[in-house]
Amino acid sequence: MKKEEKEEQRRTPYIDAYLKYIQDKNIVFDVPGHHQGKIRTDFDKLFSHQVYKNDVNCPRGMDNYMHPTGAIKEAQDLFAKACHADYAKFLLNGSTSGNLVMLLSALKANEKILLPRNVHKSVINGLILSGAIPVFILPNIDTQTEVANQPTLKEWKEAIDKNPDIKAIFVINPTYFGATCDLKRLVEYAHKKNIIVLVDEAHGTHFYFSNKCPISAMEAGADMATLSVHKTGGSLTQSSVLLVKGERVPRYEVIKAFNLITTTSPSSILLASLDAARKYLVFKGSRQIYNAVKLAKQAYIRINEIPGFKAHSKDYFTKKCHSFSYDETKLCVELDKLSIDGFEFYKILKDKYNIQIELAEKYVFLLLFTIGSEQKDVDRLIDALKEISEKYYDENVVYADPHYMSSFPVMKIRPRVAFHAPLKVVDLDDSLNMVSKEMVMAYPPGIPIIVPGEVISQEVINQIKYYEKSKATILSDWDSTSQISVVDEENWDYELEEKNIE
Ligand SMILES: Cc1ncc(COP(=O)(O)O)c(C=O)c1O
Repeated sequence: MKKEEKEEQRRTPYIDAYLKYIQDKNIVFDVPGHHQGKIRTDFDKLFSHQVYKNDVNCPRGMDNYMHPTGAIKEAQDLFAKACHADYAKFLLNGSTSGNLVMLLSALKANEKILLPRNVHKSVINGLILSGAIPVFILPNIDTQTEVANQPTLKEWKEAIDKNPDIKAIFVINPTYFGATCDLKRLVEYAHKKNIIVLVDEAHGTHFYFSNKCPISAMEAGADMATLSVHKTGGSLTQSSVLLVKGERVPRYEVIKAFNLITTTSPSSILLASLDAARKYLVFKGSRQIYNAVKLAKQAYIRINEIPGFKAHSKDYFTKKCHSFSYDETKLCVELDKLSIDGFEFYKILKDKYNIQIELAEKYVFLLLFTIGSEQKDVDRLIDALKEISEKYYDENVVYADPHYMSSFPVMKIRPRVAFHAPLKVVDLDDSLNMVSKEMVMAYPPGIPIIVPGEVISQEVINQIKYYEKSKATILSDWDSTSQISVVDEENWDYELEEKNIE
């Protein structure tokens, strides 16, 4: 970034307009109805009453979220410049909404998109809403850790060549566990064939602010990306950003899709946190991310000295798991001869040691090191792991075979058509070979085991039962996973339905 461009990044236009509005001490007759904190509630037990006082919507002077021309637009433009994008849109419902905007703006009903099967549930929702046809590319699954990583560049290219009618590809940069693909070359290959590249960068905001990270979507030349700034960029939960480069997806389509899914009542608090996070990242991000990587590397060494735990480095993901690169702010740790599983470990760590980690699966857990990570917290974690090791390490423990599905289910009908098809609710045990109407997944990471339109296989049934037994949090349309919604194929004319549902 040039010197004058960096200087410009010192500005916080939204925060400035906000401050002025609050300092004006206005008398209000607008929403929100608490009228800048005229009521007292138990909310004050959690936060200073100032939160109410500062909670405003889109009053005069603070711009309009749906049609920004002032402070919001300036703040978005600064964000776009910081990330080498042509323009940015602030999102208030996470990358969930970013994924919806990307799919809705890039694809029309019945157009095809190539995407890895380990996408987040919001992407499947985007398929339902847009009516697009998914062509899934299989992630490389590491059977040792049961982690789904990236398809290789070769696999991407082969899938693109095999599907000449695809309009877009969808890439995850990085996956939940940190794996990345050769994004730059993939973008070049796709663009040569006039294919749009959409990137889910929910976990990759920090890539834009450090040379210790894999390449970012905008740097790689992708058309659009969604960043959960709240995940790794330091803004408040839910606040995210959509970045757009070029006109392969017309601006009109992007704004139309954004207007379709977004709230008309933006949280000023969340918007301000995006303006603040961007400035922080530009000026302090690089140092803090360097620190995060340093702490992750130190934790890697120390964890590997504790019996019962096997931490994995970048090398593991690039050499063994065929990933192109790896986000070293993440640390994936495998359990090794502990007499408890990952779900139990997760609970003990929180309940006994007050340590909250990002996620645990049956045999692995994931630690995030961020711009907020501190040495003393790593030290506490290591002490806790040592105690857990002393109590639960047992040389004789033999783990059961990995449980990850060896193949993904076959898609019979488009997710949108399945979504609208007649409903039949059946016991999970009776659902074999039926077409699912719903998505079922363990959360986190929120990667669907089955999606609407796919045929339920025995492996799917086993996988759902396995998560249920493991007491993982399972998301589905029902309170209990003993039932599942399927397409009532007996009372349904598929051909007619496919014709009628655009
Ligand atoms: C890969 C991926 N994409 C998208 C999302 C959705 O992001 P958000 O929680 O900001 O809506 C997540 C959330 O965990 C995710 O893991």
